[in-house]
Amino acid sequence: MSGADEARTRQRAVWSAAAEGWIADRDAIGGPAAFLTDRLIELAGITPGYAVLDVACGGGDPALPTARVVGPQGRVVAVDFVPQMVEGARELADELGIRNVEFCTIDNEIDLGVSGPFDAVTCRFGLMFMPDPVNALRAWRALLRPEGRIAVCTWATMPMMGAVREIVARHAAVPEVDPNAPGVLALPSPEKLHDIFEAAGYRDVVVETARVPLFADLPPDKWWDTMARSAGPIVALLAAQTEATRQAIRADGIRLFGERHPSGIVAEFGEALVTGAERDG
Ligand SMILES: C[S@@+](CC[C@H](N)C(=O)[O-])C[C@H]1O[C@@H](n2cnc3c(N)ncnc32)[C@H](O)[C@@H]1O
Repeated sequence: MSGADEARTRQRAVWSAAAEGWIADRDAIGGPAAFLTDRLIELAGITPGYAVLDVACGGGDPALPTARVVGPQGRVVAVDFVPQMVEGARELADELGIRNVEFCTIDNEIDLGVSGPFDAVTCRFGLMFMPDPVNALRAWRALLRPEGRIAVCTWATMPMMGAVREIVARHAAVPEVDPNAPGVLALPSPEKLHDIFEAAGYRDVVVETARVPLFADLPPDKWWDTMARSAGPIVALLAAQTEATRQAIRADGIRLFGERHPSGIVAEFGEALVTGAERDG
């Protein structure tokens, strides 16, 4: 197996374990960050009638809001490599009566097996989990029409991630995060995003920053439980512990996040980077 395939296998395991929570808690996760989806759709220049590819669609964000913008004359192809995510997105589309989205479980982010050309590509919080972002962006560029646009969200900072790892480390060995490996904070720099988009064949690259609430404002126990069953890397870290250790970590987590937020409501934020660009040539 190549290094890229190994990285994908690791990430697929992480997001498969988190899929149930990610789908169940989609309102608490996506609701407070809906403005970011709106901005992604704007930066991708999406308008009625467009054909849009959404890569790493998870439970359907931004694929489903995009489907409403493109309307019945447009179409969205939503892909992800975790079947439970795709199934959750498909079920939500059915519930909402959204019919202009085609869902596909893909094997990898390069050979998507979907047919273009698309007017726009979106990817919300997926690119940093991919083994070679430049290759991925190049592959998506090949599916865009000339002057088609792309918009992608990644994370610059997420302080709660370090705080949770410290809590876990009180109870168990926590593997070091390799800053060069795919992960939540693997693409934290606007300059690097500029470079990789240009290297992949895009022009007029703009990178915006946005302060994003991480989960709805909730009391510490509810906030912890939501985070612990949906934040992929944390789900994986906790799954590696015994039940007794997990309970001890949970008790510490609830206490410490309660102390971080003396109002009694946890309000954690991350800084997101929203990159928009146009296909060059
Ligand atoms: C943080 S979730 C974001 C989901 C959704 N876009 C959202 O914003 O709610 C990350 C998603 O990326 C998907 N993903 C990660 N690496 C991928 C890859 N190489 N190919 C396809 N999907 C991938 C995961 O399965 C997961 O659904």
